[in-house]
Amino acid sequence: MYFGVDYYPEHWVYPYGGSPEHPEGRWDEDAKLMAKAGFNVVRMGEFAWSLYEPEDGRFDFEWMRRAMDAMAKQGIKVVLGTPTAAPPIWLAQEHPEILPVDEHGLKRYEGTRRAYCVNSDVFWAYCERIVKKLAEALGNHPQLIAWQIDNGLGGHNTESTFNEETRRDWHAWLQAKYETIENLNIMMGNRFWSQMVNNWDQVPMPMTAPTIHNPALVLDWRRFCSDSWVWFTKKQADILHEATPKCPVTSNLRCLTRKFDHFDAAEALDFVSLDSNATINSRSAELACEIDMMRSLKKAGVRTPDEDEGFWVIEQKAGNVNWQEVNSLVRPGIVRLFTYQQLSRGASGVLYFHWRQSRIGSEQFYGGVLTHDGRTDGRVFKEISQIGDELRLLAPALKGTKVKAEACILYSHDNEWAMDHGAQPNKHFKLREHIQLFYNALHDRNIPVDFARPTEDLSQYKVVFAPSLHLLADGEADRLKLYVHEGGTLVATCNTGLVDEHHMAPDSGFPHDMTDLFGMEIEEFDPVPPQDENHLSFKGSFPTSHIHPARLWCDIINPHESTQVMATYAKDFYTGRAAMTMHEFGGGKAIYIGTTSHQPFYYDLVAWLRQLCNLYPLLKVPDTVEVSMRQKDDTRIYFLLNHQNSPVRIQFLKPVHDFLTGNSFSGNYDLPPRGVLVIDERRPKI
Ligand code: GAL
Repeated sequence: MYFGVDYYPEHWVYPYGGSPEHPEGRWDEDAKLMAKAGFNVVRMGEFAWSLYEPEDGRFDFEWMRRAMDAMAKQGIKVVLGTPTAAPPIWLAQEHPEILPVDEHGLKRYEGTRRAYCVNSDVFWAYCERIVKKLAEALGNHPQLIAWQIDNGLGGHNTESTFNEETRRDWHAWLQAKYETIENLNIMMGNRFWSQMVNNWDQVPMPMTAPTIHNPALVLDWRRFCSDSWVWFTKKQADILHEATPKCPVTSNLRCLTRKFDHFDAAEALDFVSLDSNATINSRSAELACEIDMMRSLKKAGVRTPDEDEGFWVIEQKAGNVNWQEVNSLVRPGIVRLFTYQQLSRGASGVLYFHWRQSRIGSEQFYGGVLTHDGRTDGRVFKEISQIGDELRLLAPALKGTKVKAEACILYSHDNEWAMDHGAQPNKHFKLREHIQLFYNALHDRNIPVDFARPTEDLSQYKVVFAPSLHLLADGEADRLKLYVHEGGTLVATCNTGLVDEHHMAPDSGFPHDMTDLFGMEIEEFDPVPPQDENHLSFKGSFPTSHIHPARLWCDIINPHESTQVMATYAKDFYTGRAAMTMHEFGGGKAIYIGTTSHQPFYYDLVAWLRQLCNLYPLLKVPDTVEVSMRQKDDTRIYFLLNHQNSPVRIQFLKPVHDFLTGNSFSGNYDLPPRGVLVIDERRPKI
């Protein structure tokens, strides 16, 4: 297993480190200390363009070769970033047209990273050259095990740029999609507000305008921008694959927050890496949800440097950040706890951001494994070295293990982008919050979850949740019908199927193309202000631990005769009308929840579905303990995480083997505050 750190050797040459006689002398010392912490990999070079190419066409990669050699002496492997996230100042000044233009038409100037327009041909020509040169110069270094493309693709709000070159590419993209301008006018609904166009050049980019743009146009714009980023990623990956076929390619993604399709991006990569803010946001279920989303981006065809499964966390915060109002220290035990959370959910490599607090630049007060003084008696160094020691014991057991889930939550970027548009029935309705309610209920009961696009093969899942697929493409509805027909259980909700893939509302009733699947139609829907609520009255076998409110959105459902009504509304003019239904379709069940509720409703829902679908929690433990499991053949490794500040008592009826201490025990075990236990169940000796 790879365990390491993000290292910036360029920050540690004389006069910042080293000495006049040995300007790079600190690198050897750093490599020794890294080995002491248990690190066996570093990521380097993702912001080094102006040092690799100090002026147009003059290259120097030798300093990085020496840094890699320093790592080699300690047996530390290297992931190299392509440096395209930080184009040099000379490039922006020679070719100001590469600088991004924002939605107000204002140029964003050089002077920081990410100052580029991804649609610029000139920029691409320079990228292509530096990436090729880098691969030629260092691709044969024995320490190199992987490439990272760029850094934080689309970050700092650069997903959309409104340059002239972007306009040109946008028009070409539209032409490829719609073929004729008549078709574009029809499919985008341009007769609304007099937006008819006569040729491709007239189609606007969605720049700041008096009011909201056509949602169909904005949705296509997002898809176009996404395709531009995926193209950029894929083109770099192609260059690297050609130069170094054995070396896998990744990129550090943020949890679906950047506006490009992460599933598409993952297809261009050999393995997914993520940047994690765990330790800053310590809400465990939210972090777990993000990890599960990222793990789900690439379910097959994964190629990591050590041919293991899973994904990497290529930037896990080692300490505090610098962008909050108050950047408090990360408390003892938190880095360890969240490192194990990543591992428990499938990470097969973890690297910390960053090795040492930098003496220079905009991130100089970010926490690091080492503080500015470079001493190894610090708290964070000790905590991370402990993890390094533990991983030496654990890594062989984890090799080849995977997280397996029987429950799945559907997510698509198209759908989220459609809901981003300003004109929504209820602006207080937030897709991520809605997803999180379902996720929390599964997470808190220790039921593993995958995420998937609605077009994926869902047959392996016992239950699939589809929170608010507001945009539902025809192919997606067919997939869902197939899944249920073949025996699956699907749980969908309000705000589903309001528009199709062209952002057109159906004239055949809501939810679009699925009224047969759910055996009902939505007669009307009532968006509810956040300060109000309706209530649900349940019928039949649904277990209710509380009175459950109906919030934000109430679908008034007309059930067909064969459809079972599970709950009705308790007030307003739709008192007694169906709010939740269940319909048998083929061999499976299609459940529809026409509203949103408070968290306890989702706990009850999961309790009910556990019976209905034979879903089992991984282990029976107190509610506050997070459990996840990785498995391979008959090996099952359980991770138990105590997110509380007080100890939790757990009872083990069978003997278990504690991987981190090597001991075996049974009976009561007190998991310390923020403690971690990694166990497998000991198989009886025959
Ligand atoms: C990441 C980025 C790093 C660094 C880090 C700080 O998103 O990739 O370069 O800026 O944030 O937390």
